[in-house]
Amino acid sequence: MLNFDFYNPTQILFGQGQIAAITPLVPAGARVLMLYGGGSIKRNGVYDEVKAALSGHTVIEFAGIEPNPHYETLMKAVEIVHAEKIDFLLAVGGGSVIDGTKFVAAAALFEGDPWQILEKGGRNITAALPFGSVLTLPATGSEMNSASVVTRAATQEKRPFANRLVFPKFSVLDPSKTFTLPLRQVGNGVVDAFVHVMEQYLTYPANAPVQDRWAEGLLLTLIEEGPKTLSEPDNLDVRANVMWSATMALNGVIGVGVPQDWATHMIGHELTALYHLDHAQTLAVVLPGILTVRKEAKRAKLLQYAARVWHIAEGDEDSRIAAAIERTRAFFEQMGVQTRLSGYGLDASAIDAVVAALEAHKLVKLGEHRDVSAEVSRAALELSL
Ligand code: NZQ
Ligand code: ZN
Repeated sequence: MLNFDFYNPTQILFGQGQIAAITPLVPAGARVLMLYGGGSIKRNGVYDEVKAALSGHTVIEFAGIEPNPHYETLMKAVEIVHAEKIDFLLAVGGGSVIDGTKFVAAAALFEGDPWQILEKGGRNITAALPFGSVLTLPATGSEMNSASVVTRAATQEKRPFANRLVFPKFSVLDPSKTFTLPLRQVGNGVVDAFVHVMEQYLTYPANAPVQDRWAEGLLLTLIEEGPKTLSEPDNLDVRANVMWSATMALNGVIGVGVPQDWATHMIGHELTALYHLDHAQTLAVVLPGILTVRKEAKRAKLLQYAARVWHIAEGDEDSRIAAAIERTRAFFEQMGVQTRLSGYGLDASAIDAVVAALEAHKLVKLGEHRDVSAEVSRAALELSL
């Protein structure tokens, strides 16, 4: 029997035209801070639709949240929240804007130094402003989860936090708003969602056949639909399927009661902090190596993955596992995301730097068995030079 406590309060508004439906969900009389990124929402109509939906509300804007949102930028938004007596936030953008808004929501009501939120992984949050989101980039799942990742540019630290108080109240998922995404971001999104499933699925058997089948369904859907976003970029149905897959990949449902890994993500965060690779690029580099060096601990699930997701039936166990990992790498490449450090102009010196950062940040007991030491991380990265 699994034991779990599954909680998810985010209301999802899915489909074309759903931005207009947020009007009654933002409290009447609220002073709203609308947070967004570098301006993509002004080029694809999202900005205008949000402004129209909130025409009866008081809305102040905060623009310029960058990819891998910076603590320094977000603290400027916190100042505006205080100065303008803001009581509702609306994130409009990709995972970085939503993550940044979660931090602003918590930091605005935090007593003491807000960096402590990242130091303590969010466990010290006792209050947060309510917020909603309008998602424009399917990838992170941030639109329906309580996690966030913030980067302190000054010290090159990228840190996650999570707390139930920072679930969005609602999120709009309008797949037609993803047509303007650059192909690089489309590929990144599919890879990020795929790896989110893998972090929760590819560990060891836990008598969780429902979670396993859900996870495999998401992986199969991403494998089927992901490449179509590149070959049929104007296909709304494909965009919708990818968007829903990405949300379901990290809204908690496939992870309830099962062991979880997340070593690939934690190693990847260091690669982004040091070398500014996109989040999904780091995952594409790290995951194949992690699966290979941890083959013994993950053997049963790797064989299940090979059989059920890649339909590999030929060969002995080791060759089936190797083939499944190779197919995974090839899938990422097919999505336009390079899987080797050399593809990003990096060499072995980057591995030394990542390992040093993992040690400095005490990330030396990662993975579902807490046995991914800095040296195991090194061995994984060396397989993707
Ligand atoms: O800033 P704008 O101009 O909006 O442009 C963005 C940005 O340059 C652009 N973009 C977004 N929607 C667009 C668009 N361009 C055209 N048309 C659209 N519809 O895309 C670029 C990247 O956006 P970003 O939000 O950074 O991407 P993503 O959604 O991949 O978010 C990545 C961040 O999320 C964190 C990552 O670490 C990274 O910081 N993650 C958050 C997680 C969570 N909260 O649970 C889990 C993930 O594992 C991940 O760590
Ligand atoms: Zn991710």
